[in-house]
Amino acid sequence: MIKYTGHYGGPDRIKADVYVIPFPEDDTLFQKTVNTVCPQLKKVIAALQSGGEFTGKKKECTSLLTDYGRFILVGMGHPDISGAERLRRTMARAAKEMKSWVAPTVALYAPTEEVLKKDLSISFEDATIAMLEGAMLALYSYDAFRKKNASDKKGKIKEIRVVTCDEGYQSRLKASISEAVILIEAVEYARNLANAPANLMDTQTLVKQAVALGKKFTIKTLVLNKPEIEANKMGGLLAVNQGSKSDPRFIVMEYNDKKRRLRPTVLVGKGITFDSGGLCIKPSANMDDMKMDMSGAAAVLGTMYAIAKFKLPVRVVALIPVTDNMTGGAAFRPGDIITISDGTTVEIKNTDAEGRLILADALVYAQRFKAAAIIDIATLTGAVAVALASHATGMLGNDDELMDALSAAGESTYERVWELPLFEEYAGMLESDVADLVNVAGKWGGASTAAAFLQHFVEDTPWVHLDIAGTAILEKASDYNPKGGSGVGVRLLTSYLRSLPAE
Ligand code: BES
Ligand code: ZN
Ligand code: ZN
Repeated sequence: MIKYTGHYGGPDRIKADVYVIPFPEDDTLFQKTVNTVCPQLKKVIAALQSGGEFTGKKKECTSLLTDYGRFILVGMGHPDISGAERLRRTMARAAKEMKSWVAPTVALYAPTEEVLKKDLSISFEDATIAMLEGAMLALYSYDAFRKKNASDKKGKIKEIRVVTCDEGYQSRLKASISEAVILIEAVEYARNLANAPANLMDTQTLVKQAVALGKKFTIKTLVLNKPEIEANKMGGLLAVNQGSKSDPRFIVMEYNDKKRRLRPTVLVGKGITFDSGGLCIKPSANMDDMKMDMSGAAAVLGTMYAIAKFKLPVRVVALIPVTDNMTGGAAFRPGDIITISDGTTVEIKNTDAEGRLILADALVYAQRFKAAAIIDIATLTGAVAVALASHATGMLGNDDELMDALSAAGESTYERVWELPLFEEYAGMLESDVADLVNVAGKWGGASTAAAFLQHFVEDTPWVHLDIAGTAILEKASDYNPKGGSGVGVRLLTSYLRSLPAE
């Protein structure tokens, strides 16, 4: 367990094995940062600056071993994107540098008051959170199954000291540090769930994780087993589950610590523990990534973790249908006609479009909560990644206000969302010759037709669908996101829920 503490004073007063100092590129502010934070390095930094080696440019990073200790100077560049995101990326760059040696006590210097105001345009609190998010999320690695592992480095960090050189700010550190730690833990939790291989993170294990989370935080948790799923006539979940060696489960959690009577927000997460494609089997290249097809479920569980730890004054219901999607003699087939729990019949055109089938049953189940809003989150279509790559989550829905709120949460967390159209023509593309709907509309507009399929089951409740197929599963690491499971959705949804008015 890493200890997080807040301090006031320059490196001469604060003991640490390494001091990380972010610099703006603006020359005046650069000099002021030197004078305020590390005047003892004035000469050496002046030399580095005039030699062009370190001028505060974006991602510039220099480590120095001096008589005053070990320093990492890191550049923030000029203002372009949001101040918070610049800080996250800057600290991620510094964390990368830190990975090459062992430092038990790390001091992270907050930007000075002037830099916060003139260069970053954010509050001291938001800066503190962003710094810690950037550094700690960058240090994450999934190495539960390695003898000698990369986390050796992070494992050696005993204490992170967040330091300010502005008098009067120290007292403001504590709350922001605790806030950041909750968010970091929640994202790491979601990443670990997603990255776990499907042989270990199977239906039973995912359910156990949810139950354990419910116990830890007194979140009411109910798990429907197969007979109960049958009694609910969840034909989508049952069809997808046909090829599995494990029975399906349907997780229902409710966070409502103060027994508030307000209408809940319902979060629905796709919980496919492995997506082979079923009989319409996927090509073998990258099929291993499909252990992360429960990233929507991971995002929802990570969000429950965060809101419970924050004790947010909200009411949130989480719904997670869980199964894998496998081949075999018992598997469902193209051409099959199945019946979703609301009676809608679906002609299966492609068994690999399984996410929408299990989500359909979950969206029908959501109706009973008379929700204020339903948000589903799912690694639903390759098409969304064709449109947006890994740089934004696809957002489709029926309520502008809800989508605006999620866009705002996306900007502030930089888990950005981008709206894709949900014209009624997309619903028209789902007509079947033999049933109410087909599960696949053909080649084009895949993210929109998938959302149109889901929309069929939401009725009038304000609803948003977040397609995280591009953002949840990363082909390569960047800034503070590792290769593999990104944990996307946790900070986004938590930020959205924190923006809701208290009862
Ligand atoms: N889980 C996949 C979507 C996916 C693809 C997520 C790549 C992450 C990375 C989903 O179940 C799927 O297979 N969708 C199909 C739908 C198609 C058959 C209409 C797809 O996108 O190819
Ligand atoms: Zn699939
Ligand atoms: Zn899938």
